Amino acid sequence: MIYDLILKGGRVLLSHPKNPWDIVEETLDIGIKDGFISEIGSLNQSQGKAVLSLNNIHVLPGLMDTQVHFREPGMEYKEDIAHGSLAAVKGGITAFFEMPNTIPPTMTRQALENKVQLARKVSWCDFAFYAGAGKDNKLELSKLRKLPGCCGVKVFMGKSTGDLLVKEQALLEQIVSQSGPGVTAIHSEDEDRLNERKPLASKKPVSVHNHPLWRDARTALLSTERVVAIAEKYQKPIHILHLSTKEEMEFLENHRALVSTEVTPQHLTLSAPECYEAWGTLVQMNPPIRDKTHQEALWRALQKGLVDIIASDHAPHTLEEKQKPYPGTPSGMPGVQTLLPLMLNHVHHRRLDIKTLVKLLSLNPARRFKMKKQGLIKKGYKAHFTLVDLKARKTISSSWLASKCGWSPFEGQTVTGWPVGTILYGQPVVREGEVLGKPAGQPVEFDPSSD
Ligand code: DOR
Repeated sequence: MIYDLILKGGRVLLSHPKNPWDIVEETLDIGIKDGFISEIGSLNQSQGKAVLSLNNIHVLPGLMDTQVHFREPGMEYKEDIAHGSLAAVKGGITAFFEMPNTIPPTMTRQALENKVQLARKVSWCDFAFYAGAGKDNKLELSKLRKLPGCCGVKVFMGKSTGDLLVKEQALLEQIVSQSGPGVTAIHSEDEDRLNERKPLASKKPVSVHNHPLWRDARTALLSTERVVAIAEKYQKPIHILHLSTKEEMEFLENHRALVSTEVTPQHLTLSAPECYEAWGTLVQMNPPIRDKTHQEALWRALQKGLVDIIASDHAPHTLEEKQKPYPGTPSGMPGVQTLLPLMLNHVHHRRLDIKTLVKLLSLNPARRFKMKKQGLIKKGYKAHFTLVDLKARKTISSSWLASKCGWSPFEGQTVTGWPVGTILYGQPVVREGEVLGKPAGQPVEFDPSSD
């Protein structure tokens, strides 16, 4: 057999032969043919039309970012799919799931199909889109969920950027009870409490330090308790995005059966008040970055296996918008490109190991979203890989960043561990920081019947 490409001699994090959802690390070669993994083992150089020598490089399954806001259509001045997906592949990400709070919001078949059609032309990596839930489309959701390129339904229980909101109990119950196929993903903040406490955002001296006071831990917990009760009442699974509090993690410890969880690198890396002193409103996001007690609780939860997925919540706004006086500033920061470097730095500092990281960024999303032939290094799977050098020390620089918003709070930070190659369908699209080829992303495929 002659392979299109051989990945030679890397430290490969492949699926365990007996349990595909577990990982083993071995020095191996991978033979790729027609965009798929054809052989894993010991291969001869002469069997490859091309060979990539990967001594001292870790070969991970193509990692994914299951929560990004790429702002297209409607806010292309902040970000678009072309720039966002380029940022993704430069940061070692091979698929993104995009959120529905665009203009118009992704609430109709047409809006979803438009995004898929556009992404097929411009996306550097694979993609899927969330449908936004609201009272106007509640009867359409089960159809939207089944469309190609739809990864699930997003519910904003508290308002964030945009007007999407599901607050009424009956509506929320209706949406959760009709869960599936695809994930029902929840932005969990209690809208009534947010409205009641809004004056606290302007408490004197007015500053972004008020953000976690206004959107406090109880705001998150109340909403999480409420939606979990609904999931349990109807025995339907839900996925809670960007968990940020100790209280929610303690509560969820006993409510795991139907609930999967997601945490951002920002909540694991930054803490208040220091982050607001250093970066001000640049690190304002919803739910907010909180103090160390919460950050430590998130790490404890992660180490106990209570976190299923890490995703960036890449939410770019322009610097001009972010530099307005608080509370007139939009919430959110970019993150798709820095997700992996930040997390590799945590691996370097032994807060988690590389196998756990690979589970959080590829195996678990593949399993939770029931992806077809994606997210694992296994024969017959898509030849998507993220190559990393765990020892490389690099500084995150503005010249490296590809997001249209043009900034990151992590600019200037030196990390240990760096993505050195991104391969999609057997084609290197980024190698040592250089972008190769052209956009060739495809919709992620889902298999509702699989486990
Ligand atoms: O901080 C945030 N920004 N949180 C969200 O939930 C939305 C996001 C955005 O779209 O800007």
